[in-house]
Amino acid sequence: MEYITLKNSDLTVSRLCMGGCPMGGYGWGAVQEDELIEAVHTALEQGVNFFDTADTYGLGQSEKTLGKALGERRKDVVVATKFGVRIVGGKTIYDNSPEWISEACEASLRRLGTDYIDLYQVHYRDDVTPISAVVEALDRLKKKGYIRYYGLSNIHNEDIAELMPYVGKFVSFQDEYSLACRKNETDMFNISDKIRVNPLTWGSLGQGILTGKYTKDNVNFKSDDRRSRDIYVNFHGDKLMKNLEIVEVMKQIAAKYDKPVSAVAIRFILDYLPESAVLCGAKRPDQVLGNVEGADWKLDADDLRILDEASR
Ligand SMILES: NC(=O)c1ccc[n+]([C@@H]2O[C@H](COP(=O)([O-])OP(=O)(O)OC[C@H]3O[C@@H](n4cnc5c(N)ncnc54)[C@H](OP(=O)(O)O)[C@@H]3O)[C@@H](O)[C@H]2O)c1
Repeated sequence: MEYITLKNSDLTVSRLCMGGCPMGGYGWGAVQEDELIEAVHTALEQGVNFFDTADTYGLGQSEKTLGKALGERRKDVVVATKFGVRIVGGKTIYDNSPEWISEACEASLRRLGTDYIDLYQVHYRDDVTPISAVVEALDRLKKKGYIRYYGLSNIHNEDIAELMPYVGKFVSFQDEYSLACRKNETDMFNISDKIRVNPLTWGSLGQGILTGKYTKDNVNFKSDDRRSRDIYVNFHGDKLMKNLEIVEVMKQIAAKYDKPVSAVAIRFILDYLPESAVLCGAKRPDQVLGNVEGADWKLDADDLRILDEASR
């Protein structure tokens, strides 16, 4: 496994992070708790020490399953979770008010079965709370020992000016990034550089399309799978066809290195964004093993260029 120490912190994390979105058991098709727990154990055996979740995934179920799976091993790993997305009266709202940050943190601690969170992340900005108030609330949680470090997610270039006074405070920044989604690349480089944080990529497997197992004929997800909705663009229309073209290029490269296609998706990010950690959701141990194959090798410069050009 490859490891990286996140800036402004002593958090040394595996560059492959197990993502906990599917672990919520909601909106990703069928998942089974015993398989999810086994998947976490497989990740630990393979040297993964970085686990990402959020209070909103499965309305808390992801944090509960992760806490249960980690058990005594919790002290050996870096647990990252997020706050700020709430479901109120059936509607999704964004809430980074200091009151909610405090309440949400205590609820996450209970669900995770831990007395500290290593990395507590602003999931999305809300429309009203200034960064200064968010930072103050997070510093209070740090003082209490509830969280060790904090990070950002889904912010944009226009947020940079407001963040500049807090350079050195945040340690990471999550955004969607993969061979199927390069639209955020300039922002990611810019934000990570200006506010001096490590980029963490989500949707790194394009929600599964970059594993090579989907074709235009088998992407008919059931209605309880979010990928059935056309806002999950990777599986719909022209974007799907473009992704399948990229996957054909990936298959040739995967064969050359004798790796699964998912490993090429991950390796591209690890090589292209050398300060990143790559978040991959997984439902079962075999998926974790496929993803771990993304670590500990390099794409040669020609293959990196071929993937870059195919996905632009
Ligand atoms: N900050 C944010 O706003 C945000 C947003 C989204 C996600 N995230 C984080 O980023 C993580 C990763 O993103 P994601 O889970 O949305 O998408 P992803 O990692 O791109 O895709 C995950 C899906 O791909 C399939 N898969 C995974 N490994 C596989 C393998 N080796 N072989 C075949 N199929 C495989 C599984 O679904 P199937 O088997 O059903 O295909 C799995 O649920 C999340 O879990 C979460 O922690 C953060």
